[in-house]
Parts: sequence; structure tokens; C-alpha cells
Amino acid sequence: MAVVVSSNGNAPAFEAKLTVYVFICVVIAAFGGLIFGYDIGISGGVTAMDDFLKEFFPAVWERKKHAHENNYCKYDNQFLQLFTSSLYLAALVASFFASAVCSKLGRKPTMQFASIFFLIGVGLTAGAVNLIMLIFGRILLGFGVGFGNQAVPLFLSEIAPAQLRGGLNIVFQLMVTIGILIANLVNYFTAKVHPYGWRIALGGAAIPAVFLLFGSLIICETPTSLIERNKNEEGKEALRKIRGVEDINEEYESIVHACDIASQVKDPFRKLLKPASRPPFIIGMLLQLFQQFTGINAIMFYAPVLFQTVGFGSEAALLSAVITGTINVLSTFVGIYLVDKTGRRFLLLQSSVHMLICQLIIGIILAKDLGTTGTLGKPQALVVVIFVCVYVMGFAWSWGPLGWLIPSETFPLETRSAGFAVAVSCNMFFTFVIAQAFLSMLCGMRSGIFFFFSAWIVVMGLFAMFFIPETKGVAIDDMRESVWKPHWFWKRYMLDEDDVEKRN
Ligand code: BGC
Repeated sequence: MAVVVSSNGNAPAFEAKLTVYVFICVVIAAFGGLIFGYDIGISGGVTAMDDFLKEFFPAVWERKKHAHENNYCKYDNQFLQLFTSSLYLAALVASFFASAVCSKLGRKPTMQFASIFFLIGVGLTAGAVNLIMLIFGRILLGFGVGFGNQAVPLFLSEIAPAQLRGGLNIVFQLMVTIGILIANLVNYFTAKVHPYGWRIALGGAAIPAVFLLFGSLIICETPTSLIERNKNEEGKEALRKIRGVEDINEEYESIVHACDIASQVKDPFRKLLKPASRPPFIIGMLLQLFQQFTGINAIMFYAPVLFQTVGFGSEAALLSAVITGTINVLSTFVGIYLVDKTGRRFLLLQSSVHMLICQLIIGIILAKDLGTTGTLGKPQALVVVIFVCVYVMGFAWSWGPLGWLIPSETFPLETRSAGFAVAVSCNMFFTFVIAQAFLSMLCGMRSGIFFFFSAWIVVMGLFAMFFIPETKGVAIDDMRESVWKPHWFWKRYMLDEDDVEKRN
């Protein structure tokens, strides 16, 4: 494979090919995303398995047996939600350690740590004989997610040629969606295996973890990370290898320049608070809030109930998860294809309108037609199902992948790892909030929850319109000059550093 990427617009572009080696590195690293997706997808199914509930949550199981609650409150249970959400809390904490490891030791060892955490976590959860072991395992899996989600998107953005960076980075999200889909399928089959099906389901995560562990032995370290740690010759060699062209001097010099600036920053987290870091910092954090408040994880969770009302019967939960999961995977390809063509902004704006319409239609139909314990008429239910799918499509090519891509490409090198760590932990925090609160919110707000998410979508659309600049095709170490300085709003934060530079 040898796609030569060339200059585009006024962004400096360095000569590069999409080499087979880069492609292999991308696929291996993206396995970190697959484990993340598997973890997202597996817990919903496992917590629905009676064998699992009997063993660890007997009280919940008793309640479930005798429950005749209404549509909206069926699953409202804080402890069960905590089982799911504990992973995100652990990942939140871990991403700060991961950031230090990423800067000091490199992206590659951070991925190796991730896979080791995953493997121990899988062993503990799949082999759990008591609640402590189970929760401890979830926490270790969370550490794996924190390390993996820190290193993988950064790694992908740094090894990709600038003009293909968006698409290659979204391979991470693609693997997340594939992980979710595989987990849905595994849940379906293992739910029928008594009494240990849940152990197989939880143990399945070992396969991608082993792949990531061995795969990460053969991938290269990123040139940026090598040069940042004063291994200039190795960095140059790595750059030549991944770019597949002889003349890499210009790009090499630009990385060295970025590394020089970075080396003057002793405390990157403090630097993040400086005005010049504000644009990527604020955007990086808000993107996470917005990504989760699109309601994606809520929609994914609610889908089984919606599909059941169409009358799919007992296998509705699987079918709905598989349908939405498949649409999620396929639509991510659209994102990969478009992100470096139409750009990031187009996708964010298009999908905001797109998702808003879907949420409003779903909310209106549910508010009008679904009583607390009643069911939806067939035509209305079908419309709801269709709009859930259309909604998932919009998310999958925009706020899903771009929530990871934009923070990985917009920070300057000196704050890249720290800034991305804050973004990852914000993502984990808001995922935690949704995982912990959604079922109670659904119970309390009922169909109103769709209007709640709609309002957020309006806010995020406006934010994207005015505050998120286009970063398509801009070299990763050139954002300041090409993106922030010319931006109508963010340029105000670029002044102080210029003054400092002038004084020097
Ligand atoms: C989000 C997850 C979400 C997934 C759905 C990811 O980008 O971070 O929270 O479940 O997309 O595909």
C-alpha cells in the first residue's frame, strides 16, 4: 500500500506514504479500542444474567423475580449500576498515571501496561468467587482502559501522515464499535450457558488483550515520543520507516522543534492552565461532556426495551443490540471516509442537526403514545426503532470518533499527553455519570429524557459552529500557527506566548 499524501490547502505537508508497516501498527494499537468496546458492551448483558445476579447480587435477583415495575423503572438499581460504572471511575484515575508513563517511557510501553492490566482484570472478573474479587477485577480493567485510551489515540495521531490522520485515528473508534458488537453477540450466546456463561463472557476480553500484548512488542515507538526522550537518531529512523520515503528531514526538524519547546515545560499539567493552552483544553473537555450527553450510551441501553415493544419477543434485547451495534460499526466507516475529506466541522454540525431531529421524534412519540406501563402501537414503535438506528448512525460518524480524535491532535507536544489525559478522564467521568444515573433519570424523567438530550445537542451544535476550528490536514505540530492564531475567538489566548517569544 503506498498512498502518497501531499500538500493540502495552506497547511505544511510532509512527504509520506501510508506504508504497510504503519497500517499494521494502526491495527494492532487499535485493539486497545476493541477491549474498551468489549468492556462497554459486556456489562449490560452480564448484569442481566440470572446466574451472575444470583452469585453476586442475590437481593437484586430476588427483586427482579418479583418485579412488576413500569417500563421506565425496570432496571433502576444503584449497586448494579456501580458494577458497570466502577470501571470508568478507575479509568478516570488511571489516565493521569498513564499520562506520566506515556511521556516518560513512551506510547508503546503504556500500551503494554494496559494489556497487562487487562489480562489480570479479566482473570479476576472471569474467575471471581466473591464480590471483592469481581470489583477489584473491574478496577483493574478500568486501569487497562485508562492506559489504553491514553496511549492508543495519541499513538495513532502521531504515526499517521497528517492528511490521513483523521481516518487512521478513527480506526480506534471503529474497534470500539466492533468490540461493543462482539460483546453483544457473546452475551447472547453465553446467556444460554448455565451456570458459567457470564464467566465465559467476561473471560472473552482476554483474547484481544493477549493480541495487544504481543502485538505491542512488534510495533514501533512514535518518532515524536523517541525524540522527546532525546533518542533523536532512533526517532529519525522510526520516522523514515513509518513514512516510507527517504526525505523526512523537514518533518524531522518540525518534530525536533516541537520537542525543544516541550522540553522547556517542566510541569505540563500546570502549563495546561495557562491561557495559551485554553483552546485545546476547553474544547477537549467539553467534547467529552457533549459526547456523553448526546445520550448515546443511554440510547444503546434503552434500545432493547424499545425493540421489545415492536413485538420481537424474548430475543428482542439481542436483536436490538445487534442491529444498533451493526449500524454503529458500519457508520463509523463513513466517518473514516469523510473526516479527512469534508473535515471535522462538517461532520459535527451535520450530525447535530441529524441527532436532534431523531431525539425529538423519539421523545414526542414516547411522550404521546407510551404510557407508564403500556406499550407502543406497532407503527409508532417501528418509527421509534428506525429513528434510534438513524440516530446511532449520526453519532457514529461524528461525536463518537471526533471526541477522541480532536483532543489527540490539537494539543502542542508539551501538553499533548497531559491534555489528552484530562480529556480521557473527563470522558470516563461523564460516562460514569451516565452509567450511574441514566436508569434513575429514565425512571424519574421518563420520555422527558429525550428532550433533555435534545437540549444538549442544540448546545453542542452551537459550540461546534462557533468554537471548534477545522483541523483537517493540518500537521499535528502546527496547530498553533495554522489553527489557533487565525481563529476569531481563540486567537486572544495566543498573544501572551508571542510576546514572550518576541522578548527572547
Ligand atoms: C464513546 C462510548 C460509546 C461508544 C459507542 C465511544 O466513542 O466514548 O461511550 O459507548 O463510542 O460507539
